[in-house]
Amino acid sequence: MADTPLSPKLIEETLQEILDMKDEEQLALCEHKYFGRKDGWMTVEMKKIKDLPAEERKEKAKGLNTFKSKILEAIAARREQLSAPDADVLQKETVDFSLNLPKREQGHLHLVHEFIAQVEEVFGRMGFDVMYSTEVESEDLNFTQLNFPVNHPSRDAQDTFWIKGTTGKERKLLRTHTSPGQIRYMRSHKPPFRAVFPGKVYRKDADATHSPMFHQFEGLMIGEHITLANMKAIMVTAIRELISKDAEFRFRTGFFPFVEPGLEVDVRWRSEEQQTKEGTWLEIVGCGMVHPNVLKNCNIDPEKWQGFAFGFGIDRMVMIRHQIPSIRSLFPGDLRFLKQF
Ligand code: DAH
Repeated sequence: MADTPLSPKLIEETLQEILDMKDEEQLALCEHKYFGRKDGWMTVEMKKIKDLPAEERKEKAKGLNTFKSKILEAIAARREQLSAPDADVLQKETVDFSLNLPKREQGHLHLVHEFIAQVEEVFGRMGFDVMYSTEVESEDLNFTQLNFPVNHPSRDAQDTFWIKGTTGKERKLLRTHTSPGQIRYMRSHKPPFRAVFPGKVYRKDADATHSPMFHQFEGLMIGEHITLANMKAIMVTAIRELISKDAEFRFRTGFFPFVEPGLEVDVRWRSEEQQTKEGTWLEIVGCGMVHPNVLKNCNIDPEKWQGFAFGFGIDRMVMIRHQIPSIRSLFPGDLRFLKQF
């Protein structure tokens, strides 16, 4: 090493030396030569600083440090070059994994499930929780806790699929609506809350607008100052976002034992066949202010808390949205039908 260690020539030679290293092993030796803990060149030079006259120390240290960073940088760069795979080798060892197969058809969510995902998204944005309630339900939660009188006609075997071999308080059925989800939710959460419960429901019913299995989503919002006006705002938002922003709808009074007052909402529907000007009104949702008895059944004080509930018919909304004339087209899984959407 030269006596004037930091001449430009020395720097240049050192950097060149590093570039000349042919493999990682040589480079490691070179690194050791400069930075070895005992007798590395840089280590020795650094140690010498303290013996210099005070006025020279600062200058010397600064020069050495700059040089040190240059060497370290050069070593790192060279190490990266040496460890990178050779272009020739890469070329030779490349494997082409692609295979020219005929194009496969891509699947997609069923219209109903796509719709449910959207329900969760739209209500999620409005702060609603999502819960999936059980399909095999007790008579108690499906009817009694929802304030249905004991002799209410819908408890009749005519409408309900009962589960064989269950009796008394344990009597079970396939839920006829998603409303028992309200009871389960209210019993496991403290108000205020808002939630939706999408899922399958079952009734002995079959024609162009009814199917023995269909889909609903229930909703519930309870707080200290929730009114019918809040409910209307949520209903209108849901209809515009989930059916169409131009959907025509009307509110009517309706009766459901678990709400008071109760309302129904119809949406105007013109299927392609019946392009009459008026079309028909199709009922898509029942709703209302939760009945005080239902709140009491869930240990919620109706003097303090109130709110609304609603139950939308999903399949009908999908029919209106996609102009599908019969609910029965939705369920056989016929690809010729499903592929159109
Ligand atoms: N469960 C009712 C049905 O299936 C729909 C319904 C009406 C749900 C009013 C509600 C409601 O939550 O408030 O016909």
